Amino acid sequence: MALSLSWMLLAPFTTNCCSLLMKAVRSRGLPLLPWNHHPRRGVRSVLELEMKAFLEENTEIISSGSLTPEIHLRLLTPRCKFWWERADLWPYSDPYWAIYWPGGQALSRYLLDNPDIVRGKSVLDLGSGCGATAIAAKMSGASRILANDIDPIAGMAIMLNCELNQLNPFPILTKNILDLEQDKWDLVVLGDMFYDEDLADCLHRWLKKCFWTHGTQILIGDPGRPQFSGHSIQNQLHKVIEYSLPEPTRQENNGLTTSTVWDFQP
Ligand SMILES: C[S@@+](CC[C@H](N)C(=O)[O-])C[C@H]1O[C@@H](n2cnc3c(N)ncnc32)[C@H](O)[C@@H]1O
Repeated sequence: MALSLSWMLLAPFTTNCCSLLMKAVRSRGLPLLPWNHHPRRGVRSVLELEMKAFLEENTEIISSGSLTPEIHLRLLTPRCKFWWERADLWPYSDPYWAIYWPGGQALSRYLLDNPDIVRGKSVLDLGSGCGATAIAAKMSGASRILANDIDPIAGMAIMLNCELNQLNPFPILTKNILDLEQDKWDLVVLGDMFYDEDLADCLHRWLKKCFWTHGTQILIGDPGRPQFSGHSIQNQLHKVIEYSLPEPTRQENNGLTTSTVWDFQP
């Protein structure tokens, strides 16, 4: 897979802006909210429609091969043109959202099997990618959800994935909230977010503050990435559950075999 070579290994996240379209979206600093709630619908709709059409054309609807077959997702698969295409032909930033990562899979499975964790709660899915864990929280009865990802294309993918699962879209924010004042959340979930050392340090500081200021419960899904298992956060984790990964996920993730949900208690 040509496209996968640069980013599938979870190399440090790059913020390369790839197209005029994305520059336009980013320069407005727009949070991406559910369609019909946006005050400037007319201004954004052409960009959004273009992005939506691109995603629909270049992803495949998948509901097998992950830990949560009950969640349907638009993902990049070997049957998609860009799986084989040269990476520089992809018009947007690296499509982390186009893979359902093992950390997110474990978290989503856990929330679906243990709805009491989220029922009636406010839930932030930080680094939500395709949105599967936020979708799992919604399916399990969370009262308020925010999916947050710094990639606006992820925001669009989450919208499409909500539709696919017959869910009313929840709010989606595509700003870096690690720089903003913290809101109060009952639960923060992070799937496969510890793939870069600087980001891991930043998340660790942010999560400690969240825990101490608001008493927020924090669940982290991770398949044993070195940036996570070698990080000082390890002393503050309690193992909740470990899942054996399905074969297709193992193949896509260079031999990772399990994924674990951790409870962060600093
Ligand atoms: C490896 S993917 C995991 C996606 C999803 N949680 C899953 O498990 O499938 C990491 C995601 O985090 C996002 N991300 C990176 N830095 C971020 C930040 N500071 N705030 C929010 N999202 C971020 C990326 O855009 C990417 O979609």
